[in-house]
Amino acid sequence: MGFERWFNRTLNQVWGFVEDRTGMPKWALRPQPEFTFKPSYWTGAFVVNAFLYQVISGLLLLLYYQPSVNPTYTACGQAAGTLSSSPAAWCSTYYIIHSVPMGQLLLSTHLYGAYAMIFLAFVHFYRGYYLGVYKAPREFSWMVGSLLMLVTLGMGFTGYLLPYTQISLNATNVGLVLAIRLPYAGPLLGPLILSDGTGQGLLSRMFAAHVLLLPLALGALLYAHIALFESHGIAPPATSDPLQRRRFTEEEDKKHVPFMPHILFYITKWALLYIGLLLGLAALWPWTLPTYAGDLSAAGVVTEPDWYFLWVFKLVDFEGVTPVIAVGVTTVIILYVLFLPFLDRSKRTHPRDRPVFLFIGSSLLEMFVLMTVWGGLTPGVSISPMLVAERLGPLFAFNALFVGLFYWRYQKSYRARLAAQSGMGAQRPGAYPTGTSMPAVAEARAHD
Ligand code: HEM
Repeated sequence: MGFERWFNRTLNQVWGFVEDRTGMPKWALRPQPEFTFKPSYWTGAFVVNAFLYQVISGLLLLLYYQPSVNPTYTACGQAAGTLSSSPAAWCSTYYIIHSVPMGQLLLSTHLYGAYAMIFLAFVHFYRGYYLGVYKAPREFSWMVGSLLMLVTLGMGFTGYLLPYTQISLNATNVGLVLAIRLPYAGPLLGPLILSDGTGQGLLSRMFAAHVLLLPLALGALLYAHIALFESHGIAPPATSDPLQRRRFTEEEDKKHVPFMPHILFYITKWALLYIGLLLGLAALWPWTLPTYAGDLSAAGVVTEPDWYFLWVFKLVDFEGVTPVIAVGVTTVIILYVLFLPFLDRSKRTHPRDRPVFLFIGSSLLEMFVLMTVWGGLTPGVSISPMLVAERLGPLFAFNALFVGLFYWRYQKSYRARLAAQSGMGAQRPGAYPTGTSMPAVAEARAHD
């Protein structure tokens, strides 16, 4: 006990010294209420952790990787023997896996880390979608977040080509056919990505985008995203209360938990767990390199992108869906996500009060999962309109029925509860101050 007291006192003294000499409290993010010590409030921070790991592991890989299609990587010649005629990009990757100490572990964690970052960004996005965090005043946070998602997917797309395997070259070409058909942006993107039309031109552009341009864009957008987060504070829990106050005052902030060291340590704890899991998975299931682009024995290699683009590849397999239609559908989804805060104008954030958006979000999510699995099981297999209707029809119908019934049931019970409580002047429960009471809610409800 004596030791614990001494330890805590010493720790406080050391921390006090660091705070005083660095002025840290001034540049730390704002304090947060106690109820935010739950992983669901920090899904964005987990994406940042994943991004930081990608930057560190990517820089280490850069020490060995050579972005060239020429068979000039001599070290690879020694390591790979007969494979010495393969492109340097592939060969240097081969070298990392087989000759660099811990190279395979490093490369595998970079690859799985990319999957994890995209997955976590999806979780962060869907959490925000369902809990209505995009509502005022966080519209711009949402829009910048949507751009971050696009850049993150762009990082995945450009990184996929770098080992220069036959499978990644095939998939990149399909992706490019789609990208250059984008309305307005396509004609600009074409020459920008394809460069002089040679394999080397394409690889150089993808490399530049992956290691410099997109990380810079991601860093700049992230800065804006976090600055907006800092300015509004964390979004309150979802509620049916249309008068919910959605920002804390400075006075309230003073009573909250400081970001440094408490919240930072909380996030760091999760970051360490993340890295441990990544290393464990990479050690148990290390990534192996498929054959190189241009290998004559690889003529029959299937064209397959990474999992997060499988759904678009499946879409192109639908009979009658041309690349233009696939690009059109993707553009509509992107625009929907980007402008969602201006489409969903009601003031209630709880999903039960937003049946239309609940239906659209869930349908998109289920469609994404279904088509990803479908694309993985039957890549390149053409699908008839009948089969599409058979698979997707029940999904939409089930969602509509489920959300409709739930909404109808909830409306009935909510009205009854409001009627019962409005006479009592009860305060709405919940840790976040709303400044409103149930009668005020009932009144607002009558008006909106
Ligand atoms: C690379 C991708 C992204 C990164 C690194 C990122 C990072 C962050 C961070 C660190 C926060 C602070 C709170 C938290 O940790 O959750 C945050 C909040 C937020 N993000 Fe993201 N984000 C990303 C993508 C997105 C996407 C795709 C959207 C939505 C389209 C989005 C919308 C928001 C919103 C609305 C907030 C405020 C939420 C709140 O106050 O609780 N972000 N993000």
